[in-house]
Amino acid sequence: MTEILPTRDGSYTLKSSRFDASYHSTHGAMTESRYVFLEAGLQFKYDKNRRENTHTERLNILEIGVGTLLNAALAVDFARIHSIKLSYIGVESEPPDSRILQEYWDLHPPEMRPESWQELIKMYPGFSDGQAQFLSGQRIQVHLVDVHRWTGPEQPADVVFFDAFSPEAQPEIWEDRFLSSVVEWMRPGGCLVTYCVKGEVRRRFKALGCVAEKLPGPPGKREMLRVHKPK
Ligand SMILES: C[S@@+](CC[C@H](N)C(=O)[O-])C[C@H]1O[C@@H](n2cnc3c(N)ncnc32)[C@H](O)[C@@H]1O
Repeated sequence: MTEILPTRDGSYTLKSSRFDASYHSTHGAMTESRYVFLEAGLQFKYDKNRRENTHTERLNILEIGVGTLLNAALAVDFARIHSIKLSYIGVESEPPDSRILQEYWDLHPPEMRPESWQELIKMYPGFSDGQAQFLSGQRIQVHLVDVHRWTGPEQPADVVFFDAFSPEAQPEIWEDRFLSSVVEWMRPGGCLVTYCVKGEVRRRFKALGCVAEKLPGPPGKREMLRVHKPK
């Protein structure tokens, strides 16, 4: 059973009974998503590309664990504001029930809802055939599959939102075998962001040839992680 829980910044999260874990930080779901995935991930890469003058036609985002579509909606809004084109590919093995998802988003105060939330959640059923859909020119594709059985994106990812449950809840997704696939799916010069800074996870990324950068975390968490795949 999935429960909806309030978090401290006035936004909501879901709780998975199977993993006994919440989808976001209880200190603030929206705050965490904005801080870890949008600002430290997408905004960082967007600024870096502008500084280095390395534009690609589309910025490719890969998300492991789509959940409520919160990170996806923030990314689509970012693309609209900055007039850039995104290709967002998400992988999700257990999408929330559509009634729960609607209720989750309806609970949010209007000023907290990303502009694209409604259009995006309407797209969820159409994700089942894995086809890309377009939303204001943004390419959105979600694969409803266990990521361990997925063969990877056609184009390398510029930014990875690594938003699975914690290593305690699902250790296999944080092990060398899967992390090495994720690093292969990244473009050299790309980055991955996650809320987890565990020493073992950082060591695994380093052993795969990446640079693991600890950053100050969102409210309630001391640190977060940004991983860079060298060029
Ligand atoms: C921490 S929540 C993600 C929150 C999400 N990014 C959001 O914005 O709501 C983790 C998500 O990963 C999904 N997940 C867990 N294991 C998975 C797997 N092996 N393959 C694909 N998705 C998985 C869960 O179903 C859940 O939706």
